[in-house]
Amino acid sequence: MRKILKLNSISPLADEYFKSYEYSDSVTNPDGIMVRSAAMADYAVGENLLAVARAGAGTNNIPVADYAAKGIVVFNTPGANANAVKELVICELFLGGRKITDAIDWAKTLKGEGENVGKLVEKGKSKFVGHEIMGKTLGVIGFGAIGILVANAAAALGMKVIGVDPFLSTKNALLLDPSVKLAADRDEIYKNADFITVHVPLTPDTRGMFNAETFAKMKDGAVLINNSRGELVDEAAVIEVLESGKLERYITDFPTDKLIGVKNAICVPHLGASTPEAEDNCAVMAARQLWDYLENGNIVNSVNYPAVSMAKSGMQRLCVHAKGADVAKIVAAVPNVANMQSASKGEYSYLICDLSKELKAADLKKIEAVEGVIRVRTI
Ligand code: MLT
Repeated sequence: MRKILKLNSISPLADEYFKSYEYSDSVTNPDGIMVRSAAMADYAVGENLLAVARAGAGTNNIPVADYAAKGIVVFNTPGANANAVKELVICELFLGGRKITDAIDWAKTLKGEGENVGKLVEKGKSKFVGHEIMGKTLGVIGFGAIGILVANAAAALGMKVIGVDPFLSTKNALLLDPSVKLAADRDEIYKNADFITVHVPLTPDTRGMFNAETFAKMKDGAVLINNSRGELVDEAAVIEVLESGKLERYITDFPTDKLIGVKNAICVPHLGASTPEAEDNCAVMAARQLWDYLENGNIVNSVNYPAVSMAKSGMQRLCVHAKGADVAKIVAAVPNVANMQSASKGEYSYLICDLSKELKAADLKKIEAVEGVIRVRTI
């Protein structure tokens, strides 16, 4: 029986996929792992582990590259929590324009003032005048599932939206509201945007992308919203520009000890995807992808292996993971191929072959011996 380890609490809607498996938070040497935010860097990988499914978009809690080298597929669930994050960003646009959080804190100080509260409110409220978002320019960095929803919703609220994404797919471009303008580069966003919202993964290239140099390029009084990952923003630099007033507000889903309490830093405790709807969507998508991989060898939405899937046919399915390999040499070593598909992502390749006859042990050995082959599995 296959074993799936649950490293975090996961919506029970995932259970449906693992009915015939052992699925719990205490299984040892699992075939698959379902995870949300648990840090996996120190997790001792057992020899059976085939795949990890993250119920969420970011995978920076998983050693993705090490797992790729071991032939372990890491899945995420792009888009499954996009609406939840979009709604939080829209809320944060209002928090960025109006001094709502400070005003609510101040209103709490009026407790005990009895009948004077009304008068004190009217007298004190002028300190909390803010501005509207309608007509202001929103810069969206990253047009994945979340960035697109945010751009379209902001446009519907009357904002001028400009955005940038060097990897914008045609499919996503077609989903954008026609009023959304594409900027040539991020500098165009920094120069023009009153509000900036970032929707990119944390990678070596994006780490610290908001730093003293980029803040200097922004409009005075801009608002930065970051629901992607805290490390995209250089902490010392953002505190400096908040203190100088260059940045009017920094709203982040990733509080740190240094940021909490800094004037005009609004720290939300990682609530972007914390809705039952998003948790259900992510759990179902992660479970379906993990199940399909374990049962059929199909890969959909992996961050470290290419997408390869096909309907099963033949007597047996062979799945091969390889690094820097010549896929033609692998195929040449496989007898009785009835149907096959392969693809590469960076230096990693994945190949599925449906066979008209079951492989013999000696055939498997030959395939494993092809240069670059990391892992071979038959289903
Ligand atoms: C994501 O990566 O999907 C969001 O940050 C929410 C989460 O971490 O679960």
